[in-house]
Amino acid sequence: MPGDSSVNFSVLHRICKLVVLLCFLHIAVTVVFYVRSFDFRVAFVQNQQSNYNIPMFRNTNRVVSSGLEPAKEEKVLEQPVKKLEKCPETSPLLVGPLRVEFNFSVDLELVKKENPNVQPGGRFKPKDCEALQKVAIIIAFRYREEHLKYWLHYLHPILQRQQLDYGVYVIKQDGNDTFNKCRLLNTGYAEALKEYDYNCFVFNDVDVIPMDDRNTYKCFSQPRHLAVSLDKFNFRLPYVQCFGGATSLSKEQYLKINGFPNNYWGWGGEDDDIYNRVVTSGMSISRPNSEIGKCRMIRHNRDKLNDPNPQRFNRIAHTRETMYKDGINSLKYQVLSIQKLDLFTTITVDVGKP
Ligand SMILES: *[C@@H]1O[C@H](CO)[C@@H](O)[C@H](O)[C@H]1NC(C)=O
Ligand SMILES: *[C@@H]1O[C@H](CO)[C@@H](O)[C@H](O)[C@H]1NC(C)=O
Repeated sequence: MPGDSSVNFSVLHRICKLVVLLCFLHIAVTVVFYVRSFDFRVAFVQNQQSNYNIPMFRNTNRVVSSGLEPAKEEKVLEQPVKKLEKCPETSPLLVGPLRVEFNFSVDLELVKKENPNVQPGGRFKPKDCEALQKVAIIIAFRYREEHLKYWLHYLHPILQRQQLDYGVYVIKQDGNDTFNKCRLLNTGYAEALKEYDYNCFVFNDVDVIPMDDRNTYKCFSQPRHLAVSLDKFNFRLPYVQCFGGATSLSKEQYLKINGFPNNYWGWGGEDDDIYNRVVTSGMSISRPNSEIGKCRMIRHNRDKLNDPNPQRFNRIAHTRETMYKDGINSLKYQVLSIQKLDLFTTITVDVGKP
């Protein structure tokens, strides 16, 4: 029994020694790590200070830094000096043919969520490169809320993929007098320019949707007919002078034809007048091929107060004589309101009556 207890005691003694040894080891390791991290911290602070001081000295209008990582901070400081590179001629984001259907209802709240980079008023520009053109998209409008919803649903994603610096302007004719599309389009041109330095204008009927995002909504060396092959005409160009649905003109081209005629009330004729203006000014129409130029048109009955214009044939015959007197240089209108909505800017105008 006593032998047993002495054995127990010596075992206990050894265990105690081991525990004490482990404690020392633990303290030693802790001290080593503490000293090393202290060294590191000193070095870090010094490093940060040197990074802090030099750019501050060089750059008086420097960006205030909140970062902790020195490397990152240098980059942030360089960015304001460096200009964005120009976007490529052909956007790498394009996907080609698109399915366009009108058998569902569009929720604009959802469209807004799906396009978080579109700014109030329907403005957008690419983040990673400088867009090649500043494009104002002008839509003459009255009564067709449902069509506009489809247009916004389909076009915002397409225009962003095309890497354009763009704004969407819906020009709404006030009151119930006969519709005058061209006065609205001319108004859109004038009002968009008051807001931004646009150099390209796309005039898009609210019910025409492109079916291929390679059909870029930009301007070319000649006025562009974008809506080349409509489903309504079995995807064919109905006649070679056709210049409607969706067109683009640079600011220079638009001014060269003195904008659009102001005296076409009701349906029809104005597109042909614009075609005559283009040709009379010595320009020609450029078009994408019929595959890329496919568009879908929303079927609908003609609006009230947009009856065929009986004077249209007579007017078209005289474009050459009237075009320099009647156009953007003789436009009269009164803006009643301008609203910046999430997905577009809407401008309500009084364009007068026939
Ligand atoms: C719309 O029509 C297309 C083609 O006909 C069909 O595939 C799609 O399921 C339809 N969508 C709805 C919501 O009905
Ligand atoms: C225009 O017509 C609509 C119905 O089509 C009517 O609700 C509205 O009051 C009319 N506006 C004016 C100014 O007459």
